[in-house]
Amino acid sequence: MSTQLPIKRYRRLRYNPLVRDLVRETVLTKNDFIYPLFVVPGEKVKNPVKSMPGVYQLSIDMLVKECAEVASLGLKAVILFGIPEHKDEVGSGAYDENGIIQRSIRAIKKEVPYLLVITDVCLCEYTSHGHCGVLDGEEIVNDATVSLLAKEALSHADAGADMIAPSDMMDGRIYAIRKALDYKGHTKIPIMSYAAKYASGYYGPFRDAADSTPAFGDRRSHQMDIGNAEEALREVEADIEENADIVMVKPAGPYLDIIRKVKDTFKMPTAAYQVSGEYAMIKAAGANGWIDEPRVMMESLYAIKRAGADMILTYFAKEAAKRL
Ligand code: PBG
Ligand code: ZN
Repeated sequence: MSTQLPIKRYRRLRYNPLVRDLVRETVLTKNDFIYPLFVVPGEKVKNPVKSMPGVYQLSIDMLVKECAEVASLGLKAVILFGIPEHKDEVGSGAYDENGIIQRSIRAIKKEVPYLLVITDVCLCEYTSHGHCGVLDGEEIVNDATVSLLAKEALSHADAGADMIAPSDMMDGRIYAIRKALDYKGHTKIPIMSYAAKYASGYYGPFRDAADSTPAFGDRRSHQMDIGNAEEALREVEADIEENADIVMVKPAGPYLDIIRKVKDTFKMPTAAYQVSGEYAMIKAAGANGWIDEPRVMMESLYAIKRAGADMILTYFAKEAAKRL
């Protein structure tokens, strides 16, 4: 007989799964994912990457098959990383018109034309020293590297890439790449910039997959310091000014605060890269029976989207698609 309001009952919306679905704020779809793939020379090659169960280095013939499967699962986009036949000081394989990525793009476009093909642009897979640019002694020289990155991006576009994704973190590369693309008439090809990419320990397994571990030193002279958030906003702002169409934060899970800040500040299409180490940790704990792997996988992806990502580059794309 109290005149008080009934107590707030938040559980009212949680009893019925249909009601839960109605009020769910964040929804993942197959349109959200970009699936990374690693291409190697040879034929009929499908090398498992030890630290990334379910991920393989594929020769071009196998890559095309994989792309057909990816598309049949309802996924829309892949991002390609190439491991060349020969590496040299200046990463020539990266901008060779018959390089591994250039041939891969043409092969995929022939067999699976409706799949969106994004290409990673960097030199570290192609240089003998494993650094993301050309060296003067032990220094990665910015502007000389940028010219080569523009050449690399242009050769990907010429081969038929749908989108270009520079991951190198050199200064001024988005401007240089946009200019090179536009000058050659590729005005409609978007650039997805790895805009806020941190010098992260979570890239370890990737460097095995892409054979891109630096022969000496690390990537701290170009990738961002792990303690910085405001600097991420300056990096993203610069890339937007230079005409990036999509901006990326990388890694994703450990940098959810950065994703949210970037989204709120710039309201740009925002990508997040759930990197190799994030994947490997979930896989390893799952394999040991320490976590419910599919459940944690979905939760990790929801967290990234909830933080503000419009799209997620993830090695879980195929597995997640099967659950959606
Ligand atoms: C190359 C590149 C890296 C990744 C994407 N592009 C590695 C690095 O910077 O060392 C990392 C992806 C991953 O860990 O899954 N610049
Ligand atoms: Zn690199």
